[in-house]
Amino acid sequence: MLKVINVVGARPNFMKVAPVVEAMGRRAREFAPLVVHTGQHYDARMSDAFFRDLGLPEPDVYLGVGSASHAQQTAAVMQHFEPVVVRERPDWVVVVGDVNSTLACALVCSKLGVRVAHVEAGLRSRDRTMPEEINRVLTDQIADLLLTPSADADRNLLAEGIPPKRIRLVGNVMIDSLFKHLALAERSKVREELGVEGRDYAVVTLHRPSNVDDAAALRRILSALSTLAARLPVVFPAHPRTRKMLAEFGLDEAVVRGGGLLLTEPLGYLDFLRLFSGARLVLTDSGGIQEETTALGVPCLTLRENTERPVTVELGTNRVVGTDPERILREAERALERERADVPPRVPPLWDGHAADRILDAILENVSST
Ligand code: UD1
Repeated sequence: MLKVINVVGARPNFMKVAPVVEAMGRRAREFAPLVVHTGQHYDARMSDAFFRDLGLPEPDVYLGVGSASHAQQTAAVMQHFEPVVVRERPDWVVVVGDVNSTLACALVCSKLGVRVAHVEAGLRSRDRTMPEEINRVLTDQIADLLLTPSADADRNLLAEGIPPKRIRLVGNVMIDSLFKHLALAERSKVREELGVEGRDYAVVTLHRPSNVDDAAALRRILSALSTLAARLPVVFPAHPRTRKMLAEFGLDEAVVRGGGLLLTEPLGYLDFLRLFSGARLVLTDSGGIQEETTALGVPCLTLRENTERPVTVELGTNRVVGTDPERILREAERALERERADVPPRVPPLWDGHAADRILDAILENVSST
C-alpha cells in the first residue's frame, strides 16, 4: 500500500485534490492518503467553505502559514512542511496547480528524496512576470511524475527536454469535481438571493496582481464593467486581494454606486458553480474558470494578455481579450449577440470526470516501473 500526502494550499487547489483523495479512499487497499493544508488561504470563504462543499476530509495536518510576501510565504511552507515529510515518510507527495504552496512542497520533497507527482503539469503562459509561471516551470523540473491535463502540456514539457517517461496525460481533474457537483449545485439559491434568477446576467472575477494591484489597470477594467452593467446585471464576487486593493484605491464606493455591478463576498464552490453555469457571459482573469466555462459551454472572456490554457480557446468557449476597455466591451457585445445554444460545449479529450482514477493508475504504474 502506498502512503501519499496530498497537499492543498490555496482556493484553486481544493477542487483538484478532492477527487484524488476520494479515489484513494475508494481504493483503500492500494492507497493510504493524508491531506496537508499549508494554510496559504485561511479565510472561511477561501478555504473552509470548499472543504464542506467538496466533501474533502479535514486536513490531517494544518501548517497555518498564512499571507506574506512570496519569498516569506514560500519559505514558511517549506519550513513547516519538511518536518511533516520527515515524520510521515510518505511514498509519494501529490501537489497540484501552480500556487506558492505547490512549488514549496515539491522542493522540500526533492531534497528529501521523496517522490512527487505534479497534477496539472505542463501548462505554460510564457509570461514569466506571472508568479504562477515560475511555480509551474520549477515544479515540473523537479517532480518525478508529470500528470498533464491536455496534449499541449505534454508538448511544452517535451520541448523543455523532460523525458517522456516522466509525463502522463491524465486529463483535467478539476472537471471531475465540476461534473460531480453539478446536480448538488442546483440546490443553491444564489441566483435568487442576488436577484438574477431567470434573467440574463454576467459574472466577473478578478484577482491577478497585474490587474488588481495597479490602480490604473483596475480602473480601466472597472470602467468597462460599469458600462456593461448598464446593459445587464454583472455579479462580481471579489477575492480578498481585490477587496483590499479596491478599498486602498478608493474604488469600492464607485463600483457599488454604478448600480448594475453587484459586488459580493467570495462564493463557495457550489454557489459559484450555480451562478456561473447560468450566466450569459463570464469575464475573468482566473485560469480554472477558463476551463470550467469551457466544460459547460458558457462564453468566457479572459481579461489577460495570454493564457496557459490554450485548449480553452482552440476547443472551448474562451477568448483572450486583454484589458483594454473598448476591446472588452466589443467582445462582450459579440458574445451577448450569440445565443448560448449557438456555442455547444466542446469538451477537450479526457475532461470526462475520470481523471482522478487515471492519476492513481499512473502513480501505481510508476512505482512498478522503478
Ligand atoms: C493565490 C495564487 C494564485 C491563485 C489564487 C486564487 C500564488 C502565487 N498565487 O493568489 O495562483 O490563482 O491564490 O485565489 O500562490 N487573503 C485573505 N484571505 C485568504 C487568503 C488571502 O485575506 O484566505 C488576502 C491577503 O491579503 C493576501 C492576499 O489575499 O495577502 C493574497 O493572497 P495570496 O495567497 O498571497 O495570493 P492570491 O492572490 O490569493
